[in-house]
Amino acid sequence: MMAHVEKAQRATALITGASGGIGAAIARRLGSEGYDLALVARGEERLKSTATSLRDAGISGGLILPCDVADPEAVHRMIEEVMGHFGRIDVLVNSAGTSRAGFFLRTRLDEWNEILRINLTGVMLTTQAVLRPMRRQRSGTIVTIASLGGRQGRETLSTYCASKFGVVGLMDTVRREVERLGIRVTTILPGEVDTAMHQDGPERGERRMRPEDVAEAVSFSLRLGPRAVLRELVLHNPDSE
Ligand SMILES: NC(=O)c1ccc[n+]([C@@H]2O[C@H](COP(=O)([O-])OP(=O)(O)OC[C@H]3O[C@@H](n4cnc5c(N)ncnc54)[C@H](OP(=O)(O)O)[C@@H]3O)[C@@H](O)[C@H]2O)c1
Repeated sequence: MMAHVEKAQRATALITGASGGIGAAIARRLGSEGYDLALVARGEERLKSTATSLRDAGISGGLILPCDVADPEAVHRMIEEVMGHFGRIDVLVNSAGTSRAGFFLRTRLDEWNEILRINLTGVMLTTQAVLRPMRRQRSGTIVTIASLGGRQGRETLSTYCASKFGVVGLMDTVRREVERLGIRVTTILPGEVDTAMHQDGPERGERRMRPEDVAEAVSFSLRLGPRAVLRELVLHNPDSE
């Protein structure tokens, strides 16, 4: 439980993409472990229903923060609000993301730009903004949900894979710059997870891992003592390449 926070006060976890399949599972898991939650996504209604289902599970609903992670002004305001409310940020989970399938030859520039804006620029902006308070605290953990698509290409997902390769490179570099400040950086690369990101029916869904599997990996990385850093974790689907 919150092994990295050596303080009497409760630790705060800021989760982007908190209304999505994986983000909501992470919120449930960290909320049940005693973290105060700051929940970020663009759509307020879905965030509210995530908070309601947390409360139904006996977990405090958390602070709801509608925000586009790729909008620098909005991210700045959002971080100010979290700091004003909780006074600290111990954990950032970058889970906001998007995907669109299509063969590379048909990739349109506007779609390319939008996916890179959310998946890569969004992680960059949120991480940069959170590092300021974490640097003052001289502690914190940043967990980023990249993808197996950040390690190997997948047909019809060229833009998504390009964005996730970018995220893996970005966070590997950030890690090298901030570990000496007492800030841990973990990147998780899951294979296929059964969420709304896939719209190809229940049969394929049966073969995918569950969002709770990714939440378990996040929880494990946070439970490690301050002298152990899980830098990277690849979660494969059992029957994948
Ligand atoms: N599902 C998989 O198979 C899989 C595998 C590996 C990695 N991942 C990664 O895991 C992360 C979560 O995926 P998921 O499966 O949970 O997807 P999801 O169910 O579609 O959820 C995506 C979440 O991101 C939020 N979001 C999207 N664009 C945003 C923006 N610009 N600003 C703030 N929030 C934004 C969405 O809310 P709004 O639309 O309301 O903003 C939603 O909360 C993604 O980074 C994804 O690439 C997924």
